[in-house]
Amino acid sequence: MHATIEAAARRLADAGRVVALTGAGVSAESGLDTFRGADGIWARFDPDEVAAAGGWLGYLIARPWDGMELLRGIRDAFGTAEPNDAHRALAELESIDRLHALITQNIDGLHRAAGSTHVIEMHGTFRRKRCSGCGGCEDVSRERFVADIDAMIARLGSFLVHHPAHLLDRCPCGGLLRPDIVGFGDAVHGLVEATEAVDAADVVLVCGTSGVVYPAASLPERARERGAVVIEIDPLPTELTPLADISVRDSAGRALPALVDAVRRVGSSV
Ligand code: OAD
Repeated sequence: MHATIEAAARRLADAGRVVALTGAGVSAESGLDTFRGADGIWARFDPDEVAAAGGWLGYLIARPWDGMELLRGIRDAFGTAEPNDAHRALAELESIDRLHALITQNIDGLHRAAGSTHVIEMHGTFRRKRCSGCGGCEDVSRERFVADIDAMIARLGSFLVHHPAHLLDRCPCGGLLRPDIVGFGDAVHGLVEATEAVDAADVVLVCGTSGVVYPAASLPERARERGAVVIEIDPLPTELTPLADISVRDSAGRALPALVDAVRRVGSSV
């Protein structure tokens, strides 16, 4: 691993602009499940069933017992998860001007919690609500997030909810305040910003994503076609591995701090 980390560090140190694309693997060491691993979310919930119910909120109504279980899992995992060494390393890369945009598919808010500021959350975030009426957004603290989930569990447990609207709070405008996460069939967030960032990048650092969900998965390919360098960090080969100039086969929590150390060394020796 040492040699590939050094090679990756040299590319980062030499680059004009660097963009990262992250997925669930970056949060695995914070205790959050990935989607496609053996114990992943899609091994426990059938994505076709969730899609057929019109998304997660519809699934909760259609399967209230499973729904309450799902909500307890979300509350316990997302309500307690803290940034890990991978999130902190990416924030540090930004602070030393070696990361200029961080595009993530994760909805856990952990990149921002670790101190990254230029974050594009393509699949939204649990840490914000958006009104389906006026489009207004409000930030959601961790305490509020947990309280909201507990309220949803209580409402589901009453078996008096027959429509997703009954699970959600209302905005002063009368619209429904939904978690600001991208559901099945929804447009992703920040695609223009993400594309612009990738189009300006000399290096794209891909970390902890299987690279099967579009349009996020198309971004490294777009960069590669322009001649940008693609560096992948993942313990396993992914759909994006054939595009990668450098593949680091390790966990994000080990590889990213090692990469930051190496970038600092390389940077100080030129
Ligand atoms: P996946 O579950 O598809 O992929 C997770 C990747 O992380 C895999 O390549 C794992 O090998 C890797 N991985 C596991 N542990 C790791 C670790 N400690 N360090 C680094 N990598 C590790 O998750 P995503 O690619 O993020 O979309 O999934 C993309 C989208 O699919 C999600 O955002 C979600 C889902 O449907 C929506 O909900 C809209």
